[in-house]
Amino acid sequence: MILVSILTLLGALSGVQAQNGNCTKLPLGNGPTISPDNSYAFLQSKELAAFANDAPTPSNYTQSFKNLNASSTADNYLGYITLDSYDTNICASNCTAKDECQAINIFFERDPTLDVGTECPNPPSTTMIKCVFWGSAVTKKNTNNGGYMNKAFVVAVAGSNGYYNQKAGKVEGSTATAISAPSAALLFAPLLALILGNGL
Ligand SMILES: *[C@@H]1O[C@H](CO)[C@@H](O)[C@H](O)[C@H]1NC(C)=O
Ligand SMILES: *[C@@H]1O[C@H](CO)[C@@H](O)[C@H](O)[C@H]1NC(C)=O
Ligand SMILES: *[C@@H]1O[C@H](CO)[C@@H](O)[C@H](O)[C@H]1NC(C)=O
Ligand SMILES: *[C@@H]1O[C@H](CO)[C@@H](O)[C@H](O)[C@H]1NC(C)=O
Repeated sequence: MILVSILTLLGALSGVQAQNGNCTKLPLGNGPTISPDNSYAFLQSKELAAFANDAPTPSNYTQSFKNLNASSTADNYLGYITLDSYDTNICASNCTAKDECQAINIFFERDPTLDVGTECPNPPSTTMIKCVFWGSAVTKKNTNNGGYMNKAFVVAVAGSNGYYNQKAGKVEGSTATAISAPSAALLFAPLLALILGNGL
């Protein structure tokens, strides 16, 4: 029992996908198709960078960072939605609608179009637009989740912007954030990569 838990934890910590995918189709994202289809072109994409650099700062929010190639790992993860377009206002208004939400991280993620497995180790990619909600501030410092490898497929992040609202100052350092950084961030970064990558 304990051994199984430890193995599960180690698997999660090392970012290794426990399952071997069966190559079924996965949902397509609404971000631009990147050509050529590799992580290098994705990370260098001027098109993705332009969306991030040109995005308006939502009203009642403060920009924390712009156009990074990683996603945030703050305290108090509140889930995410996928968007039809890189719309910082829609992302922020969904955050505002949640009592606990203090910050958003919006970014493009290079995801596989098939459930990666030994029969399809490096399938074509799709570009997801993700809007992640956090119950604490996102900062350049905690935006350190640069993706991971799943077999030969590289999950990568580009055009990552962070914004926080007025709640972020008030609650920071209070008991509302039960898990303290940085140990929690280190523990959960690979796990989060799995969660985000698997769309759970
Ligand atoms: C493939 O795997 C997914 C998730 O693990 C499962 O939902 C699906 O039914 C499987 N499809 C086939 C054809 O085995
Ligand atoms: C911004 O905050 C003000 C004051 O609380 C509020 O009246 C306004 O509706 C907010 N704007 C948005 C877009 O939420
Ligand atoms: C991400 O950006 C940093 C800072 O600009 C850079 O040093 C790093 O090489 C980039 N990583 C990738 C995978 O492009
Ligand atoms: C939340 O996001 C969805 C798109 O995923 C959008 O249709 C909806 O209007 C947003 N809700 C709010 C309260 O802004």
